[in-house]
Amino acid sequence: MCGIVGYIGKGSASDIIIDGLSKLEYRGYDSAGVAIHNGLNIEVEKHKGRLDVLASELEKNPIEGSLGIGHTRWATHGEPSDANSHPHLNNDKSLAVVHNGIIENYVELKEELIGEGSEFLSQTDTEVLPHLISKYNKGNLLDAVMEAVTHVRGSYAIGVISKNSPGELVAARKDSPLIVGVGKEEFFIASDIPAVLKYTRDVIFIENDEIIHIKDNKIKIYDKDKKEVEKEIFKVTWDIEAASKGGYDFYMDKEIHEQPTVIKDTIERRLNPEGDIVLDNINITKEQLKDIKKIFIVACGTAYHAGVLGKHAIEKLMRVPVIVDIASEFRYGENFVDENSLVILVSQSGETADTLAALRNAKEKGARVLSVTNVVGSSIARESDDVFYTWAGPEISVASTKAYTTQIVSLYMIALDFAIKAGTIDKETYKNIIDNMLKLPECVQSVLDKSESIKDIAKSMINKNNAFYLGRGADFSLSQEGALKLKEISYIHAEAFAAGELKHGTIALIEEGTPVVAVSTQDTLLEKMVSNVQEVKARGAFVISIAKEGNNLIEGVSDRVIYIPKISDFLAPVVAVVPMQILAYHVSALKGLDVDKPRNLAKSVTVE
Ligand code: F6R
Repeated sequence: MCGIVGYIGKGSASDIIIDGLSKLEYRGYDSAGVAIHNGLNIEVEKHKGRLDVLASELEKNPIEGSLGIGHTRWATHGEPSDANSHPHLNNDKSLAVVHNGIIENYVELKEELIGEGSEFLSQTDTEVLPHLISKYNKGNLLDAVMEAVTHVRGSYAIGVISKNSPGELVAARKDSPLIVGVGKEEFFIASDIPAVLKYTRDVIFIENDEIIHIKDNKIKIYDKDKKEVEKEIFKVTWDIEAASKGGYDFYMDKEIHEQPTVIKDTIERRLNPEGDIVLDNINITKEQLKDIKKIFIVACGTAYHAGVLGKHAIEKLMRVPVIVDIASEFRYGENFVDENSLVILVSQSGETADTLAALRNAKEKGARVLSVTNVVGSSIARESDDVFYTWAGPEISVASTKAYTTQIVSLYMIALDFAIKAGTIDKETYKNIIDNMLKLPECVQSVLDKSESIKDIAKSMINKNNAFYLGRGADFSLSQEGALKLKEISYIHAEAFAAGELKHGTIALIEEGTPVVAVSTQDTLLEKMVSNVQEVKARGAFVISIAKEGNNLIEGVSDRVIYIPKISDFLAPVVAVVPMQILAYHVSALKGLDVDKPRNLAKSVTVE
C-alpha cells in the first residue's frame, strides 16, 4: 500500500525522500512523486511507474530545498497515472499533500468543494485534502489541518507542506501507519521505520487522531482535542542491513534463508535458564486462563494459515476447541465473541486493516486480545492486551516466509505455555516438545541445502498454468500456504485441497502433466495420502511429494520427493513449508518475474 515520507531539516529533501521511499518499495506501488519547497514555491515531480523513473527525472531537473514530502502510490481511486500520483495540490498550488489510506466521504466533500470553486485534476480521493485544508487555512497551517481532518471519514496518514511556511511540516494519522524519525536538527515522517533508519534510530510512533507539528526545529504532537501529548522516543535496535538484500538477488530468497536464525531467536529468547517458556508481554494468569471459555484466532492470508496451525496446537495441547477466522469475515459476521473469549490476532505488519478492525470488534465485546506480530509498536501491538513478538526481523518481500514460520513457532509456544499453566499437559511432554523445537533451525537448514535440487523441480513447472496442492490435517493447511506462495509470485493458478475431498469433484481437473504437490508429513495419515497420490498419478499428474526421511512408501508413487528430516508430526509443518517456499521462489525467478513485488499486491494492506 502507499508509502509516505517527509523531511524537514538542512539536508537535500529530494535525495532523502527518494532514499526513504526506496525503503518503502516493499509496500507495493505503481507511481511515485515528491513536492519540495524550493524557498519560494512548492515544486512537484510525479510519475506513473517505478521510483527509478521519478529519480531520473529529478536527476535531470533537480529541486533544491530542505523541506518536502514524497509518496509511492498503490492505486485505489483512479488508475495509475501521472495525474493520479501524489502529491496533490490546491488551486493556487500553495499547499501540497501526500496521503496513505482512503477518504470514504470524498465524493460528498468533492462535490461541496467543487461548488465552492475548487478545481480537481485527478480521480483520487486524496485530492479533496489539499482543497479542504486550503479552505480552512486562515494563515495557520496546523489549525487548518486540524480542522480539515474533522470533516474527513476514513483512514489517513498525511504529510502537508505550505508555500507560505518554508520551515513547517504538518502530518496526521488515523488508521494508517505513521512514524516520526527524530534526527539532529532534522525530522522525518514515514509510513515505516526502514525509511528513516539511515538517518536516525530515534523514532516516535504516532497514534490514531494525533497531529504532528514540526516548526523551528521543534516537534509538537497534539491529540484530536488539540491538547499537546507527551510521546516516548523509541530506539530502533535492528540494523539497516537486516532490511537490505545482503547478496541475494531477491529479498524473498534472503528471507527464506534467514529462517533458521529467526526461528532460533523466536524460541530461545523466550526460554529461561531452566529451559522453560517465559512470555514477557503476556500477562494471562492461571486463574484468568480458567475463565477463558472460547478461543478465536483471526488473521488474513499467510498469517491466517499460521493461525490454522495454531488452532491444531492449542486444541492438541489445551484440549479446547478453537475457531479460526479470516479477519475480513470475522469483523462483519456474528462471531460469538464475548468477555470470556480470548482472541488471538496474527499479523506480520501489525497494520492490516481487517485484522485491526477485528481486534477492535473483539475488544468492544469485552474479549481479551493477544496479538502475535512482527512489528514492535505497530497498531495491532499497541491496541492488544498481550503481545507476542515474532523475532523475524524486517520482512520486505511481499510474499511472507520467515514471518509465517515464526508465527507458527510463536503460536506453539503460546499453546505450550497455556497448556502447562492449565495443567492439560505434563512437564515431560512440555519439555520434550521444547527440546524438539530447538532442533527446528537445524531441520530447516537441511531443507535450505536442497535449494538447487528444488530449482530443478521448479523448471518443470514454469510453463504450467495450473497446479494443485494436497494434504491432510496440518498438511492441508500447509498446502494452502504452499498454493498461495506459488500463485502470488509466479501467477500460476494453484489450489489446495484436503486430499480426501479430491474425489468429490476436483479430481476432474487432473490431466496429463498437471503438477500436484502432495504434502505427506503426518505419519498417522501417510497411508491415506499414498492412496490419494495414487489416484492423481493414475490420471496423469506429475506428483511432487514432500515427506519425512524414511517414508519410502511415498517414493514409489511420486515423480519427485523432497525429503524433510524426521521430526514429530506436530512440528513437521514448520519444516515442510520451506520446500514449498523455495519451489515458488524458483518458479517466479525462472520466469523472470519481480519476485519481491508481485503485481497488484502490497506488503502492508492498510486499507479494507
Ligand atoms: C502472502 C502474504 C499475505 C499476508 C496478509 C496479512 O504472502 O504475505 O497474505 O499474510 O496480507 O498480512 P499481515 O500478516 O501483515 O497482517
